[in-house]
Amino acid sequence: MKTHFLMVLILALLGFAACLGDKSLDEVDPEAAPAEPVYTEHIAPLMFDYCDSCHSPDGARVLGEIRTDTCEELKGNMEIVSEMVFDRQVMPPGGAERMTSEDQLTLQRWFDQGADCDQ
Ligand code: HEC
Repeated sequence: MKTHFLMVLILALLGFAACLGDKSLDEVDPEAAPAEPVYTEHIAPLMFDYCDSCHSPDGARVLGEIRTDTCEELKGNMEIVSEMVFDRQVMPPGGAERMTSEDQLTLQRWFDQGADCDQ
């Protein structure tokens, strides 16, 4: 009986800990991401870290026929990228390094501000 209670307690604690790492973007400190992200300075490095290994010809291969290594392609796929990364949270997929909430906010801001590819 006692061990059963302990198991439940441990599972509850693990669940709680898992939630802590997964802040919703509204809860991220607004100062933690650049106010006006710039493609070359902020976005390209993020794509390189989290996406290009699977979504560029220089990486393993181009999966899902989407490239994340050029600004124009990323901008053109803004909607599906937002859906996969922010709404469904399925990219990067299991096993690959997850985007931090701060990095997601940076990308979201850049999209919201019109995804300028000129700088
Ligand atoms: C470990 C490899 C891997 C990484 C890293 C990765 N992806 Fe993917 N991505 C995939 C695979 C596999 C698919 C599914 C391809 C399919 O089903 O056709 C996919 C599909 C997608 C799609 C859907 C394309 C479509 O037309 O349906 C989008 C958008 C996407 N990824 C964006 C991203 C973004 C943005 C990142 C970085 C934040 C990222 N991915 C990181 C492997 C990866």
